[in-house]
Amino acid sequence: MYLGLDFGTSSVKGVLIDAKQKIIATASSPLKVSRPHPGWSEQAPDDWWKAANKVIAQLRKLKPKAVAAVEGIGLSGQQHGATLVDKDGKPLRDCILWNDARSFKECEEIMDGEPRAVPHSGNIVLAGYTAPKLVWVRKHEPKIFDKVAKVLLPKDYVRLRMTGDYASDMSDSSGTYWLDIGARKWSDLLLNASDMRRDQMPDLYEGTDPTGRLSPSVAKAWGMPKRPVVAGGGGDNAASACGIGAVTDGAGFVSIGTSGVIFVSNDTWSPNAKRMVHAFCHATPGTWHQMSVILSATASLEWLAGVLQTPAPQLTKALGPKLKGPSSMLMLPYLSGERSPVGDAQVRGVMMGLGHETSRNTLTHGVLDALAFAFKDNMEALEEGGARIDRLMAVGGGTKSELWLRIIATVLGIPIDLPAAGDVGGAFGAARMGLVAATGEDFRKVFTKPKVARTITPEKAAKAAYDDQFQRYKQIYPAIKEIKLS
Ligand code: XUL
Repeated sequence: MYLGLDFGTSSVKGVLIDAKQKIIATASSPLKVSRPHPGWSEQAPDDWWKAANKVIAQLRKLKPKAVAAVEGIGLSGQQHGATLVDKDGKPLRDCILWNDARSFKECEEIMDGEPRAVPHSGNIVLAGYTAPKLVWVRKHEPKIFDKVAKVLLPKDYVRLRMTGDYASDMSDSSGTYWLDIGARKWSDLLLNASDMRRDQMPDLYEGTDPTGRLSPSVAKAWGMPKRPVVAGGGGDNAASACGIGAVTDGAGFVSIGTSGVIFVSNDTWSPNAKRMVHAFCHATPGTWHQMSVILSATASLEWLAGVLQTPAPQLTKALGPKLKGPSSMLMLPYLSGERSPVGDAQVRGVMMGLGHETSRNTLTHGVLDALAFAFKDNMEALEEGGARIDRLMAVGGGTKSELWLRIIATVLGIPIDLPAAGDVGGAFGAARMGLVAATGEDFRKVFTKPKVARTITPEKAAKAAYDDQFQRYKQIYPAIKEIKLS
């Protein structure tokens, strides 16, 4: 038996699989995000640990014997979060998350102070990455900064609690801005550029390598007497790619989760920093990937659901599954600023076309459209960098909306495949990494593509109207970007 744990932004998910990769049980436990100031986004590291324990308790209730037979665990997690721990491994403050926009000035400071940083890293410093967050902490919370013994990514903090080891994997570490991504090792040049030291970094492993074993006390508490090995694991996007077999050159997927991601696997490191394409290590040895990231995907719909005090599934259900054409409300979904392709942490969302006739349905439809346009904008950025995308598999919570999938397929103009296993995501990829770490099997044989349950194709009748609306969408950001609200 093998277990995958995915530390997302809105929940911790667990997937238990057997040696043939059959899903035996799944469980999840929700997480909250705190926003102490506009543009900030934080979580308490202890909440991940509590949620992980709840997930294990649920799995034990469902399948106690299967849990007792677990031999390998893989970890997947939201990327970039700065979890600062002291010399005893205790968190010094809440984790500053991937969608926190506070450190935009610090990005400029890093790039101005070390002009070799961007060519060396292959990526522009963006406020979501870990390094500018540490520069911010040094300036604004110097007492905390002085006590930082290690900086851990969210899933790696949980690993510390599970095993006592300070360890990370290449894919997740790529998002710190401290990794030499081409050479797959910590970079002194990048560490120096943000006043960090190598001893503050965890040890590095490939995602499929074992990093240690569950500690005797956690193994006892979790009812896992075999003390399973824990795999390096991956950032949630790379882990999802392992879950749907996107580990060969050109294979990719679209993830409609809290964030929205288009991901393409590469055999070589292929940076294209200009349009904020992320060029990171993959979670499998000797592979890299390109990815573009929309900060607020289902997060935009959740925001509207909060404002309208109506659950998101109810909002989308009210629209029905049929697609006639775009909403009359056009929106930039930049609620936390945006990464790809604009790289602007200060911009915020825009709604256009509001009239007396604008209804709840118009707004919901406009949010779904906005995300599809943001995906199209990102697909163009990836294609400019050389990627060829002619179909994508879709993962993430947003795939539950049939209408949303139809809009995305129509706007992107490509077929979207849905995996037969349902929303497999990062937890399944992590379970696969746990299997490889425990058995030493060849990852290429384990990380196969799932069966396609069905394919959503572009809707011809709506295509022309959506193409026109996308051209309008593209005009909004250049028109408003110089207007600063504060
Ligand atoms: C990737 C990113 C997001 C988070 C979401 O760069 O920031 O996709 O990993 O969990």
